[in-house]
Amino acid sequence: MNLCVLGAQWGDEGKGKIVDLLTPRFSIVARYQGGHNAGHTVYVKGRKFVLHLIPSGILHPGICCVIGNGVVVDPSALFAELDELAGMGVSIDGRLFVSDKAHVILPYHRELDILAEARRGEQKIGTTSRGIGPAYEDKIARRGIRIGDLADESPDGALAIAVRENVAARNRVVGNGDMKWPDVLASLRQAWTRLKPLVRDTSLYLHREMAGGKRVMFEGAQGTLLDIDHGTYPYVTSSNSTAGGAATGLGVGPSSIGKVLGVAKAYTTRVGGGPFPTELLGEAGERLRETGQEYGASTGRPRRCGWFDAVIVRYAARVNGLDALAITKLDVLDDLETLELCTAYRCGSETLTEMPSDVAQLSACQPVYETMPGWTEPTRGVTDFAKLPTNAQNYIKRLEELSGVKAAIVSTGSDREHTIVRGELLNN
Ligand code: IMP
Repeated sequence: MNLCVLGAQWGDEGKGKIVDLLTPRFSIVARYQGGHNAGHTVYVKGRKFVLHLIPSGILHPGICCVIGNGVVVDPSALFAELDELAGMGVSIDGRLFVSDKAHVILPYHRELDILAEARRGEQKIGTTSRGIGPAYEDKIARRGIRIGDLADESPDGALAIAVRENVAARNRVVGNGDMKWPDVLASLRQAWTRLKPLVRDTSLYLHREMAGGKRVMFEGAQGTLLDIDHGTYPYVTSSNSTAGGAATGLGVGPSSIGKVLGVAKAYTTRVGGGPFPTELLGEAGERLRETGQEYGASTGRPRRCGWFDAVIVRYAARVNGLDALAITKLDVLDDLETLELCTAYRCGSETLTEMPSDVAQLSACQPVYETMPGWTEPTRGVTDFAKLPTNAQNYIKRLEELSGVKAAIVSTGSDREHTIVRGELLNN
C-alpha cells in the first residue's frame, strides 16, 4: 500500500521527521508540490538535516526520491542542497529524479514575489520570498519554463524566445528594468548541464516501479490550510498541498495514492499573515514558541503559536480523506497546568463546528475551548502509549475524538527513536 504524508495544519507540523521515520517501509519517496519555501528538519543520531526541495527519504541509502511535476524548482537552491548533502556524506547518485515537467523558478521570480508583497501593504501574505507564487503564476498563465525545456540548445529556439519574452515582461514591471535575457539564458544553460542526468519522465518512472511492486510514499509540503484551493485564501501558498495534489503533482492516478496520513502538532503554529483563531499572543504563546523552538526552518521567522484547533484538523480530515494522524511535539506541552482544545468557533450569535470558507468570517471567529488537565511527568522520548502520563493519553484520545481520526503515530521528541507507533493502520 502506498501512503501520502501531508500537513493537516498550516505547515511545519514535523512532516520531515515522519517521512524519515516511515521511509524504510517504502522504495521511493516522491514530493508533489511547493518548492524551496518548505523546510523539512530531520535529526538523525543527533545530526540536523534541513531539506527544502529534496524529499527527506534521501537520508536513507538505497531509497529513490522524486521531485514531481507539481514542484517549482530553483536550480540554484537545488544545487545548494545537493552540495550540502554531499558535504554531509549523503550520496544521491542514481536515486534522485526530477520531472521534466516541473517548472523552473527564474532569477526574477524572487524579485516579483518581494514586489507583490510590498504592494499588498497591511494585507501582505508573509511569503517566504522564494519566488514560489510568481513561478506558479507563470505556469498557470502558460508562459512558464519547464525543466525539460532547458534541453533546447538552439540559439533561436523555443527556450531562447521564452526567456527573451519573460525577461522583457519582467523589465516592464520592475523599476530597474535592465535584466539582460542572454544572461538569464546562459545561467539556465549552465544549470542544465548539472540537471540533465537527474531529469526524466517521473510519472512514467513511478508507474513502472509501482507496476513492479515498489511502494511509494507521496510527500506533501506546507499544510492543508495553506492549500491554494482549500486553505485560508488568499493567505495561502500557490499549490495544492492537499492529497489531490499528489495525483496531479506526480502524474499518478488517485487510486494509487493508497492511505493518507495527516501530520498535526499537538498544538498549532502558523508563519506569515492570515487568520489563526487559537493564536496565543501573550506569555503562553511565547512559552510554546521557546519550548517548541518555533522558528521557521527556511526563513528563521518566529512562528505564531496557539492551542490545538480541532476544527481545522477535522476539516483536513475531510478534504484529504485522512486515514490516520501523526501527532507531533507532544513533549512541548509537558508541565502545563491546563490545556485548551478548540472544539468549535463562535461567530457573532452562531456556533460553527465546520471551517468557514470566507477568510473574513474566520478572522471574526472566537475559539470555543474545552479545558483539559495537563501533566508534570516528562513525555520526551516515550515510545509506548501506555507509558505516557494518563492526562497525556487522555489529551490524545480527546484530540482523536474531536478530529474524527485516530493517531497512528505520536512523536515525543525530535529524534527518530522518540516516537510511539500505534495500531495496525500503517502496517497493512
Ligand atoms: P509562499 O509559499 O512563499 O508563497 O508563502 C505563502 C504562505 O505560505 C506564507 O504564509 C508562508 O509563510 C507560508 N509557507 C510557505 N511555505 C511554508 C512552510 O514550509 N511552512 C510553513 N509555512 C509556509
